[in-house]
Amino acid sequence: MKSPHGWVHGVFNKAYWIADAEIDEIKLFGNKTGHQEKTMSDQDIEQYKITTEPFYKPQEDEIELYGAAYDARLPVMIKGPTGCGKSRFVEHMAWKLGKPLITVACNEDMTASDLVGRYLLDANGTRWVDGPLTTAARIGAICYLDEVVEARQDTTVVIHPLTDHRRNLPLDKKGEMVEAHPDFQLVISYNPGYQSLMKDLKQSTKQRFSALEFDYPTASVEASIVEQEAGIDADTSAKLVKIAHAARNLKGHGLDEGISTRLLVYAANLMNKGIAPKSACRMALVRPITDDVDIRDTLDHAIDSVFA
Ligand SMILES: Nc1ncnc2c1ncn2[C@@H]1O[C@H](COP(=O)(O)OP(=O)(O)O)[C@@H](O)[C@H]1O
Ligand SMILES: [Mg+2]
Repeated sequence: MKSPHGWVHGVFNKAYWIADAEIDEIKLFGNKTGHQEKTMSDQDIEQYKITTEPFYKPQEDEIELYGAAYDARLPVMIKGPTGCGKSRFVEHMAWKLGKPLITVACNEDMTASDLVGRYLLDANGTRWVDGPLTTAARIGAICYLDEVVEARQDTTVVIHPLTDHRRNLPLDKKGEMVEAHPDFQLVISYNPGYQSLMKDLKQSTKQRFSALEFDYPTASVEASIVEQEAGIDADTSAKLVKIAHAARNLKGHGLDEGISTRLLVYAANLMNKGIAPKSACRMALVRPITDDVDIRDTLDHAIDSVFA
């Protein structure tokens, strides 16, 4: 949409983003068309609470460690390859602690305003809408920034004041300082495998977090995760894990990442729908992770021998 000033705005929820330059105008002249501000009701907060226990099988003492970090309100970074249980762990901990959880999937187009909030223009005038980070700070939620390296570094720095003794969030455009609720905690996930010079967290960001390092679970733990999560028998789960191990050994030798626990659960789900094990494994475990013909054939061969 073109505004009277000629700026082009994006459409969101039938309202329009307001260009930064216009916001200064609102600050200077006030909002002639009326300004609504809404605080969150208990009901609104309830939507972020996790009511049924998310199944999570611990690998080591991460539940205890995270619990202590939460008690101390330390920000936590969860490192590890994709599909190894990072997000499930955070969901489980939010449930266990009885705190609302607000998850943000980070991407490179994300701006600081997407986290913090912005003015929207709709039929009733302009109104400020909190972003997910601001909402979490206000209501005392655990804010989980998933795959935080995907966000640009200038976006990531907005979390800094929330991660140290200040525990506040300045809303520059609104001219408000939000003091974080005592229950608020910030958690980020981070896959060091994708790390490049272009995409890494600044030291000044890293050194604001405590960190838990995740990896794929040991064979017996992983097999019991797949067994319980997908409801398949122990023998089949153990075979799936064997195939995963064959692929993980190829990491750095033609594969960027091995087969994740998530994909093992996918294969089991396909088998539950009546797909033969070999086809389920090709579809869920191999085709998604490689375009290389040699690697594909090697993994298909591993599947054939495991499910011979
Ligand atoms: N320790 C675990 N306990 C239960 N399920 C797990 C565990 N680890 C992995 N999973 C399974 O793997 C899937 C992917 O895990 P997820 O937490 O989404 O991975 P990540 O966030 O690390 O990419 C989950 O949906 C779940 O089915
Ligand atoms: Mg995740």
